[in-house]
Amino acid sequence: MSDRRSFLKQSMIGAASLALAGPTLARAAEASGSSGLPAARPRVISTWNFGDAANQGAWAVLSKGGRALDAVEQGVKITESDLNNRSVGLGGYPDRDGHVTLDASIMDGNGDCGAVAALQDIAHPISVARAVMEKTPHVLLVGDGALEFALSQGFKRSPFSITPGAVQAWKEWLKTSRYHPVANSEESTYGLGKHRGDIHNHDTIGMLAIDAHGQLAGACTTSGMAWKLAGRVGDSPIIGAGLFVDNEVGAATSTGVGEEVIRSAGSFLVVELMRQGRSPQDACREAVERIVRKRPELRHNDTQVAFIAINRAGETGAWAIQPGFEYAICDGGDRHGLIKSASVLSA
Ligand code: GLY
Repeated sequence: MSDRRSFLKQSMIGAASLALAGPTLARAAEASGSSGLPAARPRVISTWNFGDAANQGAWAVLSKGGRALDAVEQGVKITESDLNNRSVGLGGYPDRDGHVTLDASIMDGNGDCGAVAALQDIAHPISVARAVMEKTPHVLLVGDGALEFALSQGFKRSPFSITPGAVQAWKEWLKTSRYHPVANSEESTYGLGKHRGDIHNHDTIGMLAIDAHGQLAGACTTSGMAWKLAGRVGDSPIIGAGLFVDNEVGAATSTGVGEEVIRSAGSFLVVELMRQGRSPQDACREAVERIVRKRPELRHNDTQVAFIAINRAGETGAWAIQPGFEYAICDGGDRHGLIKSASVLSA
């Protein structure tokens, strides 16, 4: 199909989608003319199987013509609230000293961003990250300072710091104190010794959205590696590593072993590859392959890293080192459900 015909077809699909999506979205898209960004079909993409439920929270905002920034915050809060989730929010596994410490970041397409790391006792670190972005001149607050800031902003201390299930798992882990990252583990992302190929995936939730105004935003939140050293911070609250968003190009976020993502400035790399003309899928693939090229041992030690990405046209993509990574997309009445990611290694 010629470029022009392809463009016309895409435009017609876009217009029809907006019409089907209802008058609120159509009005919002019309208004986007003033933002200088092209009207877009709203869409949200999230990591792992729990991304599906989180997407519904984001869609409740996007479907009413709401902002991508509000959508990603509302969406990942659903995952943070799930106390059965062992790698996000206060339901997460603790560090090796028994403390659950939370990392989160949020960013919009204009470059505004905020993050918290090693935050304890607060149910929604993503909302504290947003407060850092909107209420302070800073980007990242950590530890006690982050907690003090949260309390000063009216966030309430949780009545519990760790769940009974996580305490039990931690005591079990203490018996051996074995520290061994395992890809896609069912029990935890890292450490309880489930085998590669378990695909009840638990790890960071990273979420990216585009709204009807063509604005992009992203959010990323996690309790980090189970049994980590006290003070360890992963990629999720590091802008450019766990999350990067630029309205001119697109957005990316990551999941998996944060150290590898930080070493490669992974999400920034994915966005810059899209800036050079790569599709979201191809950009994610190159970022993952670059990590493995530099550290070939990752092919053999169960390390998982995955990226998801969206560009300003709403096209999406993903790539992982190991098989077993899934992501979820929602863009309207259609729930695309879970999609199995391509990976460097095969099952
Ligand atoms: N990707 C989450 C972490 O490494 O903490």
